[in-house]
Amino acid sequence: MNLNVLKDNIEKTPAYVFDENIIDSNLSQLIDLKHKSGCQVLYSIKALPLGQVLSKAKDYLDGLSVSSLFEARLAREVLGDEGVIQITTPGLRDGEVYELKELCTHISFNSINQYHRFDKKFLLNTSLGLRINPKISFAIDDRFNPCRHYSKLGVGIDSLNSIPVDIEGLHFHTVFSHQDFLPLEQTVAVLKKKFSDELGRLKWLNLGGGYLYNQIVDQQSFINLVKQLKTEFDIEVYIEPGKSVVNNTGYLVSTIIDSFSSDGKRVLVLDTSVNHNPEVFEYQKTLTLLEENKHGYFSCILAGSSCLAGDLFGEYHFEKLLQVGDRIVFSNVGAYSLIKANRFNGYNLPDIYWIDKANHYTLIKSSSYENYQKQWIG
Ligand SMILES: Cc1ncc(COP(=O)(O)O)c(C=O)c1O
Repeated sequence: MNLNVLKDNIEKTPAYVFDENIIDSNLSQLIDLKHKSGCQVLYSIKALPLGQVLSKAKDYLDGLSVSSLFEARLAREVLGDEGVIQITTPGLRDGEVYELKELCTHISFNSINQYHRFDKKFLLNTSLGLRINPKISFAIDDRFNPCRHYSKLGVGIDSLNSIPVDIEGLHFHTVFSHQDFLPLEQTVAVLKKKFSDELGRLKWLNLGGGYLYNQIVDQQSFINLVKQLKTEFDIEVYIEPGKSVVNNTGYLVSTIIDSFSSDGKRVLVLDTSVNHNPEVFEYQKTLTLLEENKHGYFSCILAGSSCLAGDLFGEYHFEKLLQVGDRIVFSNVGAYSLIKANRFNGYNLPDIYWIDKANHYTLIKSSSYENYQKQWIG
């Protein structure tokens, strides 16, 4: 990625920029994994439900995974009559489930209570599953640990004596941005131990998302695991990655709009804020900034332009002091940024650009005061 070309092709900031070349590369890695292992790949649309990405997922993958009625409607609109749509959510609403079963090919209940609540005779033609909490934690931080104590995500494996007869599949999702397959091997081992006699009568197993497939060099253990599951139990194996499809495809371009010293530290105010990437605040995450030189002499606090004192991207180092008017670029912001972005303080959402395979930049979306006005007054 040529930084200057990127900055020069953006008319105004802030702007998200998504690169089709990188999406294609991520998707072809997943297709390779699918061919080598025999798994089915669904794109978890919560990471970035952008039309361009969804239609690529439609062309390359086996379907989509969703977590709500709106996501399910969007997914079905994109896929048409073809393709798998799987849903699991703690938020299944009574009034929505009958529409969901028209939209989704698979519904995994999040709790035994949820499973009992819906009359199964109305859910014919939909493959029913259970989300399991295998109760082995791999995330250090409980904010994104589905196996945390008192978890709301899935049926605790210790509380389930056997799999109900009308359940055709199991789903689990237990890791966050993991870069090796050890948790997967350990989790499958726990499942096999608990349900050894029952897995053979299931139709499918969904191993969830959470793995950064595009960053894991040795994929042989995954390939062996899936092959083994398919041979031993004659089941379909699904994965539903989100972040590994889109995260490294997205950039956030911003302009410095003020610069001053505060208690001896240089503060650079940006025309973006953590509201354009709320995980920076939620998880106190540090984004990669392409202009940074970690050994640079100048250190500055990059601050968002909202009224929140903690709206900060953190302290970054530079070779030369950046000036008001300079543009900067955060990378690896393709997942969970645009979808969580909001207009807090009345600041507009960033424009959205798409870089196609011929490296042409197209402005694909732009919000205005009218969108803001419509949202709050109508
Ligand atoms: C059930 C489920 N599946 C898939 C995903 C996608 O995970 P990731 O984007 O980390 O691959 C998530 C993310 O929260 C999830 O909750």
